[in-house]
Amino acid sequence: MSEVSVTKDVAPVANALVALSGVNKHFGALHVLQDIDLTISGGEVVVVIGPSGSGKSTLCRTINRLETIDAGSITIDGKPLPQEGRELARLRADVGMVFQSFNLFAHKTVLENVMLGQIKVRKADKKAAEDKARKLLDRVGVGAQADKYPAQLSGGQQQRVAIARALAMDPKVMLFDEPTSALDPEMINEVLEVMQQLARDGMTMVVVTHEMGFARSAANRVVFMADGRIVEEAEPDQFFNNPRSDRAKDFLSKILHH
Ligand SMILES: Nc1ncnc2c1ncn2[C@@H]1O[C@H](COP(=O)(O)OP(=O)(O)OP(=O)(O)O)[C@@H](O)[C@H]1O
Ligand SMILES: [Mg+2]
Repeated sequence: MSEVSVTKDVAPVANALVALSGVNKHFGALHVLQDIDLTISGGEVVVVIGPSGSGKSTLCRTINRLETIDAGSITIDGKPLPQEGRELARLRADVGMVFQSFNLFAHKTVLENVMLGQIKVRKADKKAAEDKARKLLDRVGVGAQADKYPAQLSGGQQQRVAIARALAMDPKVMLFDEPTSALDPEMINEVLEVMQQLARDGMTMVVVTHEMGFARSAANRVVFMADGRIVEEAEPDQFFNNPRSDRAKDFLSKILHH
């Protein structure tokens, strides 16, 4: 798909780590992202919510360039997203991503999963990569599982390994796309707790989730999307107690009262 770069005169926001400006994206005739302007500061936790098909995943995927955009600009730490090659691999490492499906390498151990990117992309030596992997696995509470294969772990454990793997790259920002949606209910909290801790430690995070408890307690800001647009942005208290738009009111009444 062709790419048009539209440069807009937008004053840079102080400490902006991720900045989307005038971002538009189509899938064929479907206009999935419409004039998205979103600036995320260092250390900020932004929760993205909205109905199915509103463009939340696509938004996340454009930030580490798993999807290209048709117009607008995206910068990380003031630099435009690289188009391809080694620069792009480095960008992907700077922008950690955790998906609903854990996407671990099935034929590598948990430890190897967390070491691999450090060695391949960050050029860490094996010993340093292993030390760091073990520390991170401890931090997310799965240190004892290091020598097992992903299939031998519960979903909650696998998702915590996926988080450790992303953290091993020292990302500037972490994107989470419904990280608990595929988990059995009893495993959701162990993953949310790791994310809460990460937020308290100052990680910059973009989190797509239906976990409104997490949004209330961990988010600095809630971004509500509908039909490819950001319809409303507010602090969690303001958003949940006093949503301004009819779309948000309607959405909240459906998810909070079922
Ligand atoms: N690769 C693709 N090709 C064509 N259409 C796509 C593609 N990916 C997503 N879409 C469409 O783009 C729209 C936005 O999808 P997206 O996955 O971003 O929504 P979402 O808000 O994450 O939804 P959900 O809550 O169901 O995960 C949807 O209509 C979807 O069907
Ligand atoms: Mg989605």
